[in-house]
Amino acid sequence: MRLHWQGPTLVVRTPAKLNLFLDVLGQRLDGYHELETMMVSIGLYDTLRLQANESGRLELSLDCTSPGITREMQMQLPVDERNLVLRAALLLRTQTGCTRGASIQLTKLIPLQAGLGGGSSDAAAALVGLNRLWNLGLSSVELHPLAAQLGSDVNFFLDSVPLALCRGRGELITAEPLTRPLHFVVVKPHGGLSTRAVFQALRRDRSAIGSVRIRQALQVGDPAQIGIQLHNSLEVPAGELSEEVAAVLSALDRVSSVGRMMTGSGSSCFALCAHRGQAVRAARLLRGSCCGQVFVVQTAT
Ligand code: C5P
Repeated sequence: MRLHWQGPTLVVRTPAKLNLFLDVLGQRLDGYHELETMMVSIGLYDTLRLQANESGRLELSLDCTSPGITREMQMQLPVDERNLVLRAALLLRTQTGCTRGASIQLTKLIPLQAGLGGGSSDAAAALVGLNRLWNLGLSSVELHPLAAQLGSDVNFFLDSVPLALCRGRGELITAEPLTRPLHFVVVKPHGGLSTRAVFQALRRDRSAIGSVRIRQALQVGDPAQIGIQLHNSLEVPAGELSEEVAAVLSALDRVSSVGRMMTGSGSSCFALCAHRGQAVRAARLLRGSCCGQVFVVQTAT
């Protein structure tokens, strides 16, 4: 996440994520699932532009001039209190007693319902950005419990770590070293998937593989070794809910890469490539097959 001032406007650029492996370890009494997952930040960004006001009004608007904004996003993205950005702003005010307002413009490039963490990243950007804009002085340690209240993936984005092992329901973050950049081609099928629906469709899962091998492979930094370890317990239930996921995974099987997987609860899938050239070639072929939006990205630092 990068913050800079443009006059009175605080600009926050915040990335998407991919899950490199995701084990569901069991269901908890609170209804959530216990996870172990490795998340990596990628160079696909949403941008929040924040301006303070003293009237106390909180306003969120969508930047409809952005080339990345599709009609589908404009229809699906609420700009009222269902949006995590406004929920983050309200939570910060409740927590601190702050009465100041803000106008927030959101430039959306990260697809929705995609398993790319866009909504969570925007929420983290709102927490960090408004903390700065309103001079609240909350530390990262104080922001983490607020992030966890907003959603399971929000904590990952808060401290701008490139790579992290995430446990609990996803909110307990341990930063991991990223020894070299990784290159991906990401495909977002036309349809999205609801995280809740995918978890509900999960049957008793015995496919957990653990994090030891993938952590070793990431430390060595060899894409081929990392590719062998890609694994996602949610791929089967997501594939049952969306034929597009299975279609995208088989399209990814037909291009040259070192491994492919669905990210998070879908619907996006990605191939890990040995280098950028391989990702660019794969993207060209995938765009020809019309299976959705195609992005060439590398890890964000
Ligand atoms: O935490 P978040 O609001 O992103 O989660 C959305 C839904 O996904 C939850 O309401 C829950 O049904 C499901 N979920 C889960 N276990 C997790 C994370 C999410 O069951 N670890």
